[in-house]
Amino acid sequence: MSVAKPLRIGIAGLGTVGGGVLKLLASHGELLTQRTGRTLQVTAVSARDRSRDRGVDLSSVRWYEDAATLAVDPEIDVFVELIGGSDGIAKRAVEAAIASGKHVVTANKALLAHHGSALAAAAESAGLTLAFEAAVAGGIPAIKGLREGLAGNNIREVHGILNGTCNYILTEMRTTGRDFADVLADAQRLGYAEADPSFDIDGVDAAHKLAVLTAVAFGTKVDFNSVHVEGIRHISALDINYAQELGYRIRLLGIARRTDAGIEQRVHPCMVPTNSPIGATDGVFNAVVADGDFVDKVVLVGRGAGAGPTASAVVADLVDIARGRSTPTFGIPAEQLAPLVPSPISRRQGRYYVRLMVVDRPGVIADIAATLRDQHVSMEAFLQRGRSPGEAVPVVWTTHETDEAAMQSALAAIGALDAVLEPPRMIRIEDF
Ligand SMILES: NC(=O)c1ccc[n+]([C@@H]2O[C@H](COP(=O)([O-])OP(=O)(O)OC[C@H]3O[C@@H](n4cnc5c(N)ncnc54)[C@H](OP(=O)(O)O)[C@@H]3O)[C@@H](O)[C@H]2O)c1
Repeated sequence: MSVAKPLRIGIAGLGTVGGGVLKLLASHGELLTQRTGRTLQVTAVSARDRSRDRGVDLSSVRWYEDAATLAVDPEIDVFVELIGGSDGIAKRAVEAAIASGKHVVTANKALLAHHGSALAAAAESAGLTLAFEAAVAGGIPAIKGLREGLAGNNIREVHGILNGTCNYILTEMRTTGRDFADVLADAQRLGYAEADPSFDIDGVDAAHKLAVLTAVAFGTKVDFNSVHVEGIRHISALDINYAQELGYRIRLLGIARRTDAGIEQRVHPCMVPTNSPIGATDGVFNAVVADGDFVDKVVLVGRGAGAGPTASAVVADLVDIARGRSTPTFGIPAEQLAPLVPSPISRRQGRYYVRLMVVDRPGVIADIAATLRDQHVSMEAFLQRGRSPGEAVPVVWTTHETDEAAMQSALAAIGALDAVLEPPRMIRIEDF
């Protein structure tokens, strides 16, 4: 009986994800051999600090100071990049691996968002796999789900909660009534948010993931620069309360939608119905919803980060490679990926929530209503609690469907009114 050769794996980066992958491979060796017919063997690793305990015995594994040298080790079949960063060593090492004929597995959404199309082209022209299940929504098989599971569909839209840190913060704000800065500080103490949280809370991390999902969903080149990005810094406890009252939850969403004008790619806070799958996904969980023309909506929910879930996704890619299962990186061959024709945020059609802080005096509401009328924006519901003559009071309304350009003009005019004390707060409503 012939025994298949082991799959020899080199891992660069042994932090949260890399450490998780080492542990999974060590604990599920037999199961993975049953599933692939081969052993999955870590033969070489690289990280910065050689002395740090990684939780598994690495004494018989080759150690490289330089990840790019590991990437070209002739004794590995697959290079697993778990360092991070869109450029620098991660990019150099992945390029070196492909140039020397190694398959690549990565969890690095920043790298893919900036260089995904070029790396896919290089890998495919060399007959290699570039796999990245862990890069989008962690443990959720969103890439395989879209690319393989929904391959029979034209995808109309994909959207989701793509950043667990933001979802945790927004959930905590709702359940405890505390403000953003307070909850963020706690999240940092608990290790749910980085010391520099800007990539998460300013929406950049979600935008990286969305750019990758869009390419898979629509067969377009990865186009991070056309993603409209807003984060959650300006979300207040007041808005969260109003959302609740109106039957909504506030989520930071990534949305990619095919429209007649092109493809919308946007990351921003949204109000979604409380009882929708996205509305019901609380805490650190991620959710991805794909809408295909034959299947309709498919919802995937799970953990988007952490050692275990992310290792689960990395190892799924390794199993594919060990099995020889291969698909073009973004679903269709890289050379056939079409340039993405973006539909800008100004063309969004939808409903809006707006909150103002105004001086409570006669005529203010009439001025606001007149401005909305002038921009053809029609109000759906209006809330003003209590009276406090001469004082600042919140005024809230939702609109019927309108276009973003009209809404922005109306907000600029309303913001300039004397009685309006702060820039208007606007949150887009998505009735999924
Ligand atoms: N954490 C998650 O839940 C998660 C989820 C999905 C995707 N990802 C992605 O996975 C990647 C890794 O994230 P992580 O959270 O595991 O990061 P991490 O915990 O900070 O680990 C990074 C690892 O890279 C090593 N490293 C740094 N610079 C290096 C260099 N020049 N050469 C070789 N190794 C180097 C570090 O070495 P030392 O240990 O010696 O310092 C560390 O082991 C990133 O692309 C991230 O976006 C992470």
